[in-house]
Amino acid sequence: MKESNIMEEEKAVLVVDGKELEFPVRTGTMGDKAIDIKRLRADSGGVVTLDPGYKNTASTVSKITYINGEEGVLLYRGYPIEELAEKSDFLEVAYLLIFGELPTKAQYEKFVADIKDKSFVNEEMKNIIDGFPRSAHPMGILSSMTSALTAFYPVNVDFNDKEELYKIIVRLLGKFPILGAWAMRKRNGWPLTYADSRLNYTGNLLKMMFEKPMEPYKVNEVSAEALDKLLILHADHEQNCSTSTVRLIGSSHAGLFAAISGGVSALWGPLHGGANQAVLEMLEQIRQDGGDVQKYINKAKDKNDPFRLMGFGHRVYKNYDPRARFIKQYADKVLAELKVSDPLLDIAKTLEEAALKDEYFQARKLFPNVDFYSGIIYRALGIPTEMFTVMFAIGRLPGWIAQWKEMRENKEPIGRPRQLYVGSTPRHYVPIDKR
Ligand code: ACO
Repeated sequence: MKESNIMEEEKAVLVVDGKELEFPVRTGTMGDKAIDIKRLRADSGGVVTLDPGYKNTASTVSKITYINGEEGVLLYRGYPIEELAEKSDFLEVAYLLIFGELPTKAQYEKFVADIKDKSFVNEEMKNIIDGFPRSAHPMGILSSMTSALTAFYPVNVDFNDKEELYKIIVRLLGKFPILGAWAMRKRNGWPLTYADSRLNYTGNLLKMMFEKPMEPYKVNEVSAEALDKLLILHADHEQNCSTSTVRLIGSSHAGLFAAISGGVSALWGPLHGGANQAVLEMLEQIRQDGGDVQKYINKAKDKNDPFRLMGFGHRVYKNYDPRARFIKQYADKVLAELKVSDPLLDIAKTLEEAALKDEYFQARKLFPNVDFYSGIIYRALGIPTEMFTVMFAIGRLPGWIAQWKEMRENKEPIGRPRQLYVGSTPRHYVPIDKR
C-alpha cells in the first residue's frame, strides 16, 4: 500500500455560466479518485452540487475502512475482514480500528483490563431505565441510555490529553454492552445484572442478557465465539448512515455519548441496521405463508408494492457483501455445533438462490447484505428478534468511536450541507380571515 494518503495529480474541469473552473482530482491509497470541489462555491459565485443521499459525495478522507463495492472487498486498516474474522477477536479489532494498528500483547492486555474495569454503570441509571414502559423497543432504550451517560461523565474531551481520550473510549466500550443487555432485561422484566470480570467481552454480553437470578450462568463457548465473529463483521463500514450521523453530531463538538446515541437511532431504521430484524420477520412471514419464495420475489419486483426483499441490496456493494458470504458459511457451522435446526435458514437459502437467478436482481446488482444471514445466527443463540439491531450497535461501537476520533483529530469543520431551495418566492403575509 502506498504511504501517502492523498496524491494530487489530475484536474477536472467544470464549465459554469461559460466560465471554466479547474478542480484537483485526489487519489486515495487504493486508487479511488475524488474531485475536490472545496473551492466550488467561492470560484463559481455561489453554485453548489446537488447529490441527494450523497450517492456521489465523499464527505471526508479516512484511513479507517476501505470498501470496494464492485469487487466485494472490505478492509479494516488494510486487513481483510475475512482474516480478522478468522484470526482476531472483537476487542483486538476494536483497538485496531480506534488506534490504527494491531495492539502488542501488552497493549491488548491493558485495553481488555481497562474495559473490564469500566464494566459497570452508575446505579442511578437504573432509575432512568425504570421509567421506560416494558413495550419500549430495545434500540430506543439503548439510544436514550447512551445519551443519559452524559449526565454522569464529562461531556467534552480535551483532544490534546491522550489519557483522557483513552479513558472515555474504554469507559464507553465497557458500559455500552451493559446498556444493550439491560434493554433486553427490561423488556423481559428481569433484574438488571452486571458483568463478571472472569469472562471475556462476548461471554459477558451473553451472561448479562441471559443470566437468571436463581442460577449461575454458564457461557456456551460456541455461542460466545459466534457472537464475537458477528461483532467483528459489524465493527465498521466507513461512511454509512449511522457513522455519518456520529461524525455529523460530533462535528458540532457535542460529546461522544451524544454522538453515539444519535448513531444508534440512525442504525435503528429498517433500511440500515434495522434490516436484520426485518429479515427475520420476512422469513417468518414466508414460512407461515407456506414457504413460497417466488411469491415474495414477485412482490419485491412489483413497483406498485412497497415490499422490498430485506437483507438484499446495498448502496456500496454491487457484488456479494463479503460479510454476508462469511456469515452464510458460518451459520451452517454454528447451527450444527449448537445442534439447532432452523427452517428459516433453508428458506433464506432458497430465497437467495431464486433472487440471484432473477433478471431483476441481476440487472440491479442486488446481492445479500450483512443482515441477510446474521439474524439466523442470533436466533440460534437464543437472542430475541428485537435485540438483533442492538447486537449490530454493540458491534459497530468501535467503528463509530474510531470515526468520531478521526474526525475530531483531523479538526474537521462542522458538518453543514447546502441545499437547492425550490420553495415559494418572496410573498406577503395574509391575515387569517383573508386566506
Ligand atoms: N428489493 C427489491 N428491490 C430493490 C431492493 C430490494 N431489497 N433494493 C434495491 N432495489 C431496487 C430499487 O427498487 C431500485 O430499482 P429501480 O432502479 O427500478 O428503481 C434499485 O434496486 C436501486 O435501489 P435504490 O433504493 O436506489 O438503492 P439505494 O442504494 O438507495 O438503497 C438499500 C440501498 C437501502 C440498502 C436498498 O437496497 C434496500 O432498501 N435494501 C433493503 C433493506 C436492507 O437490507 N438494508 C440493509 C442495508 S445493509 C446495512 O445498512 C447494514
